Amino acid sequence: MMTSYNLIRPLLFRLDPETAHNLTLRLLKTGLAPKTPFLDHPALKCTLWNLSFPNPVGLAAGFDKNAEVIREMLAFGFGFVEVGTVTPKPQHGNPLPRIFRDPVHEAVINRMGFPGGGLARFKENLQKFINRKPRPAGIIGLNIGMNKAQTDPAKDYCFLVDQLAPLADYLTINISSPNTPGLRNLQEPEHLKALLDDIMRVRTRACATNPPPLLLKLAPDLSEDQQQTIAKTILECGVDGLILTNTTLDRPAHLPPEFAQQQGGLSGSPVKDKSTDTIRNFYRFTNGKIPIIGLGGISTGADAYEKIKAGASLVQIYTALVFKGPAVVNKINNDILEYLQKDGYSHIGEAVGADFRNAGANQKSENR
Ligand SMILES: Cc1cc2nc3c(=O)[nH]c(=O)nc-3n(C[C@H](O)[C@H](O)[C@H](O)COP(=O)(O)O)c2cc1C
Repeated sequence: MMTSYNLIRPLLFRLDPETAHNLTLRLLKTGLAPKTPFLDHPALKCTLWNLSFPNPVGLAAGFDKNAEVIREMLAFGFGFVEVGTVTPKPQHGNPLPRIFRDPVHEAVINRMGFPGGGLARFKENLQKFINRKPRPAGIIGLNIGMNKAQTDPAKDYCFLVDQLAPLADYLTINISSPNTPGLRNLQEPEHLKALLDDIMRVRTRACATNPPPLLLKLAPDLSEDQQQTIAKTILECGVDGLILTNTTLDRPAHLPPEFAQQQGGLSGSPVKDKSTDTIRNFYRFTNGKIPIIGLGGISTGADAYEKIKAGASLVQIYTALVFKGPAVVNKINNDILEYLQKDGYSHIGEAVGADFRNAGANQKSENR
């Protein structure tokens, strides 16, 4: 069946990727995009951090940086939408062009550098979404980052937590985008603990009752030693969840050289296995105690299910939306449901981290 995205895709792919993205946002804002009902199935509904997710497939950060099209994205059937990354002050980001596509491998390289209208515009848009009733089902995450000119990162993160905690279903601390100098260094142990302690204090002050869960978004380019140290720190600091992963700085050899030479973070199918390995490691290092949102190269139900079995409780997509269009959301949900049924699970929660239980069971039977 020819979907409306199949009709519009050739036009979008003739445009420079960022122009295509801006046009997509403008089209979405007209409110004329076709709506897809949620795939409403009890096996896919999840409750995490006291929040009810209608299904486990979410929109990843970066698509709707200024919180302009939350309602429209939920209407495509997403169970949750993460908006941002928002920075305190408006900024232009890196010079154009800064997004590059490789349609053969369904991959994107971006070096956006957090362009956006800053907190004031983001908050105004978010407030508009919240005020318009009825509010559609679906959870809204707010992803925060620092301005390029900020020399004291904790200042920007704490300011944003203070301003946004009362409005957020969940908050994501993004310390893993590769396009803001110094940002990824915040993942280092000497910075991470102090930053998280500050943020936790501000969150409690901003929301004494019912504070939103705080999630940390990490890169796929950490060594196992670094992952292990971070796991220990987040358990100590009381971080509520992990978002694994952001884009990679790797350039696998099979990518076309003119694409691979672009600086920035690589997303889509080439990051898939690295992200899944990161999820698997963190699930193990945290003994499955910290819920994980898994992403990186998911474009099918099989990709999503692989991340769920490796330890993800929920998943997100971005790059697949560019190449496949919004119909991919319900397709992934439908396929997850089929995989669950095939494996004899009555609820998605039973499949989370199943790789570990299967490995344990195999180990036991070998030991007999
Ligand atoms: C053009 C573009 C912009 C992005 N901007 C952000 C961002 O602002 N904040 C963030 O946390 N992640 C951002 N990301 C990363 C995605 O949220 C996601 O972690 C990554 O692309 C891997 O998922 P995917 O393979 O499904 O795209 C961006 C990705 C792309 C392609």
